[in-house]
Amino acid sequence: EESLHRIKGLPKVELHLHIEGAAPPAFIRGLAQEKKVRLDGVFAEDGSYVYRDFVHFLEVYEAATSVLKSPEDYARLTTAVLEECAGSGVIYAETFISPDFCGGGDLGAWREYLHAMQDAADKAERDMGITLRGIVTCVRHFGPEKARAAALCAAETAGDWICGFGMGGDENRGEQRDFAYSFDMAREAGLRLTTHAGEWRGAAEVRRAIEDLGVERIGHGVRAIEDPALVDLIAERGITLEVCPGSNVRLGVYPSLAAHPIQKLRDRGARVTVSTDDPPFFHSTMMQEYENLARTFGWEEEDFIEISKTSADAAFCSADTREALL
Ligand code: ADE
Ligand code: ZN
Repeated sequence: EESLHRIKGLPKVELHLHIEGAAPPAFIRGLAQEKKVRLDGVFAEDGSYVYRDFVHFLEVYEAATSVLKSPEDYARLTTAVLEECAGSGVIYAETFISPDFCGGGDLGAWREYLHAMQDAADKAERDMGITLRGIVTCVRHFGPEKARAAALCAAETAGDWICGFGMGGDENRGEQRDFAYSFDMAREAGLRLTTHAGEWRGAAEVRRAIEDLGVERIGHGVRAIEDPALVDLIAERGITLEVCPGSNVRLGVYPSLAAHPIQKLRDRGARVTVSTDDPPFFHSTMMQEYENLARTFGWEEEDFIEISKTSADAAFCSADTREALL
């Protein structure tokens, strides 16, 4: 009805978006054909991505990513992703970018990939009015040594556009503290910090992310709800949760959106934001996330405006760029 239509049309700020995970399947299929690469087991009959569970999702993600082989490919990817975001009403997004996929951790190659993505983002800003910033991201299951190369790339290119450092990947592999050296390097370069935690492991992992890495945002972090004292700490310290409800439901972290703790986390004073994570993998868009939250929790326009203000406030970009969003 009328109010749902208004909610879907609201300007949106998205803080948790993996650039390869946001690749439209048709874009990846097109690149595979151009390069005459066979991608087995990546697509379902209907052309969407297919996977069995989280670990298999990561494998399919990496297989799809394997067709992205040059700065030019990442420029085209950036354009395709920003078209999708803008179509959902997103006015500002931060995307996770991994030197591991962009030049294999080599600094010279990384700079070329980065410049190609920045040029595409500049054009999208002029054409579609959407602003993009990058968070350099290490991949947990690639291990601490690869993470150090990623952190070095991050530190060397830190600035207005690369504004953060983070970690994604399989939370069940290794420990947050194994990556403290990389996070320290990024912090010293002036980068803001976030890490995935509390998606596959429980509240104790979220606590370790805060204590061992000193992050100010947490990717997901939803399982903090299992420890009320930790939720209090998150609220008191003003740590922001990058919540991706559709991702959590699709990957089976929670059986349904109604069972998802996003409302409880808000009620308990945690700073909650809403993102899509890897939208086509989860058959999601920001507009779809908004619609589902409105329908399931009865959120109204003012709830979504509060969410966007929290997101803009927690964005890692410069104060000027942030204030223009509020
Ligand atoms: N990489 C891409 N999506 C991810 C997720 N949901 N969790 C961890 N790593 C990821
Ligand atoms: Zn993620």
